[in-house]
Amino acid sequence: MAYYVINGGRPLNGSVTISGSKNAALPIICASVLAGEPCRIENLPDIDDVRRITEIIEMMGAKIERPCDGVIVIDPRTIEKYAVTNEMAAKLRASYYMLGALLGRYGYAEVAQPGGCAIGQRPIDYHINGMRALGATVQNRGGIVTASSDKLTEADIYLDMASVGATINIMLAACRAEGRTVINNAAQEPHVVDVANFLNTMGASIRGAGTNVIRIEGRKNLHGCTYAIIPDQIEAGTFMIAAAATQGNIIINNIIPTHLEAISAKLMESGIEVITGDSGADFYMQIIANDRPRAVNIKTLPYPGFPTDLQQPMTALLSIATGGSSFVTENLFEDRFNHVRELNRMGAKVTVNGRTAAIQGVDRLYGAEIYASDLRAGAAMIVAALMAEGVSVVRNIHYIDRGYENIEQKLRALGADIKRVEE
Ligand code: UD1
Repeated sequence: MAYYVINGGRPLNGSVTISGSKNAALPIICASVLAGEPCRIENLPDIDDVRRITEIIEMMGAKIERPCDGVIVIDPRTIEKYAVTNEMAAKLRASYYMLGALLGRYGYAEVAQPGGCAIGQRPIDYHINGMRALGATVQNRGGIVTASSDKLTEADIYLDMASVGATINIMLAACRAEGRTVINNAAQEPHVVDVANFLNTMGASIRGAGTNVIRIEGRKNLHGCTYAIIPDQIEAGTFMIAAAATQGNIIINNIIPTHLEAISAKLMESGIEVITGDSGADFYMQIIANDRPRAVNIKTLPYPGFPTDLQQPMTALLSIATGGSSFVTENLFEDRFNHVRELNRMGAKVTVNGRTAAIQGVDRLYGAEIYASDLRAGAAMIVAALMAEGVSVVRNIHYIDRGYENIEQKLRALGADIKRVEE
């Protein structure tokens, strides 16, 4: 098993370029199944989750070409299997997008319960109810969800929570349903908008993505297209936090500033300087941290609130905050504090009570052997190790490989002392 050895205490300096968004890339790859022609997808991040979802659609029969780095061309016309087995689905959460994509395209889908990070129950009842509302017969037996329909038809759907996965999955199926489907209380995350833009480039008619009401006019056919994925909001946020944690000064290129407003606001509240600029070709953000952060409170919320995926790295940063205690409340997932035990092993003083972590800032963390328990907990471990005094060994980095492209090289270019060891 590979691990990282990080010698902490070095401020990050220099510039880094953000890769394509994981949480947009995964549903966009699945969405290509809906097209009647090949789709060329650009700015794909080179991460394990993208490799796994690509393998899934390849196993269903799609032809994949990789003309150059960061680009794939998917030809879905040769698909002849409509079942995502347990072995395939367990590899990543986003396998659930095959339900909406296959159902929309072929009227039949069989998808085993998805895997993904263990951060709570993560039911998929909204996805299933959505497919049923569109007229599909859905059964959920023995961990396998089977959905079938001769003809999907329009529906007026309300989501009890603004679920990213359910919003996208319903959008995928509704693109090919007869009539106009409305999703109320839809998720507004940037990747929801990116998937809608991709589908519209394929000839779909989706209006309102980015607001909480999405309207989808079903189409009989969707065509091929060329599309470039947006930059990864969470990767950008992770580098912002890492710069703040090491009292660094970095420029982050290839970002969309509005996607980062909640994170910028909280970093500024904690005394970190955040400057947004436009280089002409691109937006960038400069993070300047001259001191330890001041204590702030965080509540995770659906977009445009503070993203749950950055709660864990933010908790690591706040473990060295000055000026009292910080309170971090996790509102989306009931079990997303597994990183706290590891932070405390490094000398942090964090106590968790239900959904809230109380963080009493300490002067410094000390290097230790620490374990990532999931993808973003892994990012938190890296942030903690970068700011700690001494050497840390970060284990279970296969979680980090799922969602961060070349994180070791990117951090090393910023001056971090980080080494990957393959065992
Ligand atoms: C997606 C992201 C994940 C991110 C999360 C929130 C992918 C592959 N994963 O996860 O990285 O942390 O959005 O931004 O893109 N819920 C239900 N029933 C459902 C669906 C959701 O009760 O059918 C609940 C969940 O348990 C959770 C909340 O709704 O409490 C939000 O979940 P959701 O937005 O669906 O997250 P995921 O799609 O699992």
